[in-house]
Amino acid sequence: MDLELNGKTALVTGASSGIGAATAQLLAEEGADVIVSYHRNEIGAIHTADAVRSVGQRAWLCQMNITESEHVVRAIAALPDEARHLDVLVLCAGEATSTPFDELTPGEWKHIVDVNLNGTFNVLHAAKQLLNNDAAVVIVSSVAAHTGVPHHAHYAAAKAGLINLTKSAARALAPKIRVNCVAPGMTLTDMGRQTAASLPPDYAKQKLLVARFAEPREIAQSIVFLASTASRFVTGATLDINGGRDLR
Ligand SMILES: NC(=O)c1ccc[n+]([C@@H]2O[C@H](COP(=O)([O-])OP(=O)(O)OC[C@H]3O[C@@H](n4cnc5c(N)ncnc54)[C@H](OP(=O)(O)O)[C@@H]3O)[C@@H](O)[C@H]2O)c1
Repeated sequence: MDLELNGKTALVTGASSGIGAATAQLLAEEGADVIVSYHRNEIGAIHTADAVRSVGQRAWLCQMNITESEHVVRAIAALPDEARHLDVLVLCAGEATSTPFDELTPGEWKHIVDVNLNGTFNVLHAAKQLLNNDAAVVIVSSVAAHTGVPHHAHYAAAKAGLINLTKSAARALAPKIRVNCVAPGMTLTDMGRQTAASLPPDYAKQKLLVARFAEPREIAQSIVFLASTASRFVTGATLDINGGRDLR
């Protein structure tokens, strides 16, 4: 199956580590040039850009704090001319904290909603004028959006908002641009390992039909599918990538 990503340009937020880094690398392996967006982890972003270049594709770094809308606008405006036509926009940046519901403060709630929900909107809003005809946007939500999580109420609420943002944006930007979402389960990144450490050792075997957690590249494969023309009839959808947890 030809994903038709050859010669395309992609911007990936959260590309300095984990799922975003794996997605940037896989997009490059499929022939796309990649804008590697990050916040604090410049070394990670350089590593991702090196991985993109190692398969012969172009890479540009784009530093931005997605919670600051003006910062995002400036970072997008500063992209070089050759990177100003996007075929793919992957909105993967996110942050999770684990706090019992009774201890959750308005400040922590606001920060996590700012990063995961408002930040995702900020990038979509600033980058949409760069999206080409037939562009694909992929938003990264979480299984938590469906289930709710007592220690992640703020995160789960923000991720649920992304599923609805996906539907609204898909309607608003059709027929030119498709917008889809993925809802990964526990994935073995820095963020995922932190959460996994607080779970019973047999959690994956008890809860997941595949009896293990995901590798970042397994999530990236679904993101790249939704970013490609192989999914050209899919829009407004959320793809659960959770190893068969909590079948609905
Ligand atoms: N791992 C899991 O189990 C899991 C499950 C479901 C969903 N997800 C979602 O998947 C996405 C990627 O997570 P991951 O596991 O790969 O985590 P990760 O390795 O911690 O990566 C998070 C990324 O988000 C970026 N980021 C955080 N705050 C930012 C901000 N204010 N502005 C710009 N970028 C910011 C980070 O940039 P810097 O490091 O450069 O600051 C980093 O590149 C997230 O949206 C997460 O919620 C993860």
